[in-house]
This record gives sequence, C-alpha cells and structure tokens, in this order.
Amino acid sequence: MPESKMTATLTFDNKSIQLPMHSPSVGPDVIDIRKLYAEGDVFTYDPGFTSTAACESAITYIDGDKGELLYRGYPIEQLAEKSSYLEVCNLLLYGELPTETQLRDFVVRVTMHTMVHEQMHYFFRGFRRDSHPMATMVGVVGAMSAFYHDSLDINDEWQREVAAIRLIAKTPTIAAMAYKYSIGQPFVYPRNDLSYAANFLHMCFSVPAEPYHVNPILAKAMDRIFTLHADHEQNASTSTVRLAGSSGANPFACIAAGIACLWGPAHGGANQACLEMLREIGTVDRIPEYIARAKDKNDPFRLMGFGHRVYKNFDPRAKVMKESADEVLDLLGIHNNETLKVAKELERIALEDEYFVSKKLYPNVDFYSGIILEAMGFPTSMFTPIFALSRTVGWIAQWKEMIADKDQKIGRPRQLYVGATQRDYVDIAKR
Ligand code: SDX
Repeated sequence: MPESKMTATLTFDNKSIQLPMHSPSVGPDVIDIRKLYAEGDVFTYDPGFTSTAACESAITYIDGDKGELLYRGYPIEQLAEKSSYLEVCNLLLYGELPTETQLRDFVVRVTMHTMVHEQMHYFFRGFRRDSHPMATMVGVVGAMSAFYHDSLDINDEWQREVAAIRLIAKTPTIAAMAYKYSIGQPFVYPRNDLSYAANFLHMCFSVPAEPYHVNPILAKAMDRIFTLHADHEQNASTSTVRLAGSSGANPFACIAAGIACLWGPAHGGANQACLEMLREIGTVDRIPEYIARAKDKNDPFRLMGFGHRVYKNFDPRAKVMKESADEVLDLLGIHNNETLKVAKELERIALEDEYFVSKKLYPNVDFYSGIILEAMGFPTSMFTPIFALSRTVGWIAQWKEMIADKDQKIGRPRQLYVGATQRDYVDIAKR
C-alpha cells in the first residue's frame, strides 16, 4: 500500500474523524475507511460498490471516461494487434511481457495440461443433453477440486501455480466437451501440435469421421477474442472469485463461482442475450420500436450489449471486436449479414439518440462478439462459455494477487438494516 500523505476529515454528530488517503499509480485517490466503524461507529453505504475500491491491484486498469483498458500497463488495442492470448496470460499472471524462452516454457506447460482426467468424462453423462453449457462448466470446473488433490493447498505457492496452469489449460477442453455433449457428438481430445485457439476450434468442430483443418485466420480471430476478454479489473465475476477466495476456498471452487456469476445477462451472459436481441429485431426497419422500448421506464427491456458500469465512453474492446467482425465475415464470404447490418444501424441510431447520449450508453464488449462467434459456427449457448474460458486467466491472476496480499482477510460487508427491531415470539393461537 503506497504511503499515505493526505487525509480526509469526516465530520458528523460532533465527531471529526481523520481518514488516511492513498494515491494510485493512475486513477482516483482513495479514502481509507478501514477504521471508520471502530472510531465513528458508522458504516459507509454503497450497494453495487460504484464508489468503492475493494482491493489494491496491479493487474488491470480501466479509465471509463477515456475508454482506456490496460493489462499490466499495456493498452488492449496493442495487445490485441501484436500479442497472443498465452503471452497475455503470462503478462497478467507474472506482470511483465515474457522473453521468448519464458513464453515458450509457459506455452509448453499449458499445452501439457490441456487433457482432463479421463474419469471426468463420466461427469458429463449425468447432465441432460440440452443442459446449457454454462451449467455444465460450473459443475465440471467445480468438480476439478474432486480430482486434482495435489493443487488444492492455497498456502503452497507451487500448488497455486499448478492450479493456475491447470485451469487455463483445461477450461477450453471442458467448454469444448460441454459443446460436444450438447450436440451429441463424441468428445475430441486436445492436440499438442495446435496453438491454444486452434486447439479449441479443433476440439469444438472436428469429428472423428474426417480430418478438420483449422483456418488460421479464424484461429487468430479466436485468439484475439480470448485476449479481449482476459481480464477487466474488479467486475462482478472477478469480485465473486476474490470473495470466495478470501474464505480460503480452493481455486477450482473459486473459479466455478466466477463462472456462475458471469452467466448473468447483465454480465457475461449479455453476448448471448445481445445476439438473441439482434435476431429478434430481425431487420433494420424494426430498430426504432426497440429503441423506444429501451427508453420506456415501464418496459424492463434493455439494449443488450449496450452500457457499462465503468465505461461512460466507448468500450475499447468493442472497437477492436467491430473491426474483427468485418474481417471474419469478409473472410467467410458472409456479406449482407442481416444481423451485422442491424447491429451497425442500431449502434448508429443509438449513438445519435439523446437518451443514450445523456446516459453515456455505448456498445460494450458483448455487442459485436456474438456476431463473430455465430459466423465462426458457434451456437449462442457457447458465447458465454467462451467468455468464461477467456476470463479464467484474469480470475486466477486476481485470485493469486489476493492470496499473496499480506493485508488480505475474509471479505465480510455489513448492511443498512431496515428490518424489524427485536420483538417477542407470539404463540400461534394468539396470532
Ligand atoms: C460485461 O463490469 C465489467 O467490467 C463487466 C464486463 C467485463 O469485462 O467483466 O465489461 C463484461 O458485463 C459488459 C456489460 C454487459 N451487459 C450488458 O450489455 C447488459 C445491458 N447493459 C445494462 O444491463 C447495463 O448497462 C449494465 C448492467 C451493463 C450497467 O448498468 P449500470 O452501470 O449499473 O447502470 P444502470 O443499470 O444504473 O443504468 C443507468 C441508466 C438507467 O436509467 P435510469 O434509471 O438512470 O433512468 O441507464 C439505463 C438504465 O435504465 N441503461 C440502459 C441500458 N443500460 C443502462 N437503458 C437501455 N439499455 C441499456 N443497455
């Protein structure tokens, strides 16, 4: 924690409490309220944590006004263009861009852990074929703690490292297995001769009956999508992983908790919800009807893929994703894609509409990703599992950072209690 040079004075009820302040390397200063309850006998109130820094972190920085996203200081646009997902994983986990040797070693370690324990195949048999792949992923990733007993001790740095590599390596395999199981096709084993992204495409789309050659452009687009989703500061699912980890739960259970939280349509589930919305709109001439619904306070409908808790300007990931969508659809020879046309026209109209401008609602990472994933052959049900496997490295990096934080303790928020004050039990005969 940077040494505090400033203090904030909180004055109320004839009390005056001096609270230390801390300055970040970039971004807002923070007021350290850790002693507030002890000294002032009051809580702060911030449901949704819109004004709360829950931890100190050196991994990812977001500037919502400037539309900036940095992984360990490097802009997402540069990483999406010049880096690779496994290089980004190494950066997020260890803090620096790896040398050629370090990267090669990391790629080998991940590659050598992509298979899952053969017994885990039986786990899938317990699910209905039409289970949502996110339901399967939550179950099977959580069940990893029933298999990998040699990497459960969070106090052992080497076991934490092994668990991190296993999770990064195996979540694509589990996601692909969930997909294959849902379409009644046999599981496809990982291949060590393929890159991380190509291997995922191969596990999803190859069948034993014939050879499957991964299109290198699609593998590059897949790798870029993984990179764009890798981490994102203290979002809901990352905060879930940190809170679960603060109790000492094992890493597999913590990541399963993160997957469960990501599933929500307000969070990672928005990519599926967005494509379903674009399909429901169907044609450009129906856009005004949906814009009106999104603005209607009495209508719960929201434009999925629009808005963000932090970005009050464009989401830099959406810009990269939009460029990638044009590239992938062009490569696949998909021109007049009605969904993409609706998406681009919806974006244009919304960004000119006073309601969206005044509320600073812009397309987020989920707005264009579904269009690319659908063009690549994925069903909408696989969109959030792909987000989950991409975000596993961010969850793990944040979890490791939290475990290593000497100030870390179990997370335990308080509340503003508005329920009944104490009262005596009344016998049922007298109620
Ligand atoms: C992700 O946190 C992260 O970093 C998440 C993420 C990551 O990488 O981890 O970036 C991934 O989750 C991206 C967001 C995906 N979700 C969606 O696309 C779902 C649609 N978006 C909304 O549900 C909403 O914008 C949120 C949940 C994303 C953000 O909500 P906020 O910041 O809490 O804002 P809010 O709900 O308080 O809304 C503020 C106003 C409200 O109007 P008023 O009550 O002030 O009149 O804006 C309106 C909302 O009604 N509004 C929308 C809207 N989003 C907000 N109106 C129409 N359509 C929308 N999409």
